[in-house]
Amino acid sequence: MNILVLGSGGREHTFAWKIAQSERCNNLFVMPGNSGTAAIAKNISGSVTDFEAIKDTVLTNNINVVVVGPEDPLVQGIHDFFLQDKDLKNVSVIGPQKAAAELEGSKEFAKEFMTRHNIPTAAYQSFTKANVEEGYSFLETLKPPYVLKADGLAAGKGVLILNDLNEAKTELKKMLVDAKFGNASTKVVIEEFLDGIELSCFVLTDGENYKILPTAKDYKRIGEGDTGLNTGGMGAVSPVPFATEDFLDKIENQIVKPTVDGLKKDNLPYVGFIFIGLIKVGDDPKVIEYNVRMGDPETEVVLPRLKTDLVEIFEAMGNKTLSEINIEIDERAATTIMLVSGGYPETYEKGKEISGVENVNDSILFHAGSKNDGGRIVTSGGRVMAITSFGNTYQEAIKKSYQSIEKLHFDKMYYRKDIGFDL
Ligand code: AMP
Ligand code: GLY
Repeated sequence: MNILVLGSGGREHTFAWKIAQSERCNNLFVMPGNSGTAAIAKNISGSVTDFEAIKDTVLTNNINVVVVGPEDPLVQGIHDFFLQDKDLKNVSVIGPQKAAAELEGSKEFAKEFMTRHNIPTAAYQSFTKANVEEGYSFLETLKPPYVLKADGLAAGKGVLILNDLNEAKTELKKMLVDAKFGNASTKVVIEEFLDGIELSCFVLTDGENYKILPTAKDYKRIGEGDTGLNTGGMGAVSPVPFATEDFLDKIENQIVKPTVDGLKKDNLPYVGFIFIGLIKVGDDPKVIEYNVRMGDPETEVVLPRLKTDLVEIFEAMGNKTLSEINIEIDERAATTIMLVSGGYPETYEKGKEISGVENVNDSILFHAGSKNDGGRIVTSGGRVMAITSFGNTYQEAIKKSYQSIEKLHFDKMYYRKDIGFDL
């Protein structure tokens, strides 16, 4: 089997790392990939949304399975593009078709889906430029903090949480009338603020059956104590210690089952990963968001704990026989710490040489924003490398990651020193 992974982050290096362990994989390609994937697969330059270039790559290399890492190609309909092309229609694509990818592509679509299928989530209303005044009135009925969400994809920046009513009104106007997030904020969802601790649940589905992967918790803020700007994610822990068996049962029965059944009822074909962002309010889970792909850096802790052959899982997803697969999970905890470029998530410099990679033996290094430059590895993005470790407890795993980080260096390297602080 020949496999192509689309993407260039730590998530995609982790996919490639796991796939490369399978005897079922003959040739592995990553487009565009990074310095980590270059060592275990063939990198092919190109953009993940250039469907024609992807088609060429697939045909030239006899690719059988395409694993889509990020959301953009899914929301733009890469799976539909394959199904509509006579040369590509038998290639298996891991990721939903465009209609179902709207679960991530449109917050309003996701809220309507949850309402229709009785899936617990925050109360909400949505507004456009035409009824912005009603939006102000709705805000007046809510208690602070106020949660405003741009409907469309806004690179993780489209959610604002504000304490002041006037500020919330001003921001609502900026989003709807002044197109603060471009087309993404043509519509804005205003929702009830949910107070609790967050975690994520990852589900595999072939459209008929589902399997639940380990939970994970990520740390989105740049600063210690969960302060400062939002990032793509600064670290992650799996499993989530406060997700007891009882709580996991609630997640499965109140959220996962109705989600997979809802996709079927609504005729939304879905072969891929569902990433459900949850918040624990009291003892109950509520959905904050759906993503139609794996998380980054959650993948860097979830896939290392998966003992089952990932290629076998992908084959079963393509054949709709996921129910026959036994998902085996490593009991140990896994944690990852992200090394980022100084300045991230605002402006930062690139091209800094990364040293010490060869000295790390106790952790797995998943490369993210890094590339090969002659014989050196240099930084090429904000999130540079995820340092994943196992431990009998998450504390032990975290300690190991921090010990490994001591051996790594690049100019202006930054990382959070408190991953797991709230558990
Ligand atoms: P989202 O892009 O929908 O995941 O939102 C980004 C972040 O905003 C989430 O990870 C939460 O921390 C926060 N958030 C979103 N919706 C709510 C809500 N209704 N109540 C509290 N926090 C929220
Ligand atoms: N770590 C959050 C995400 O992948 O969206």
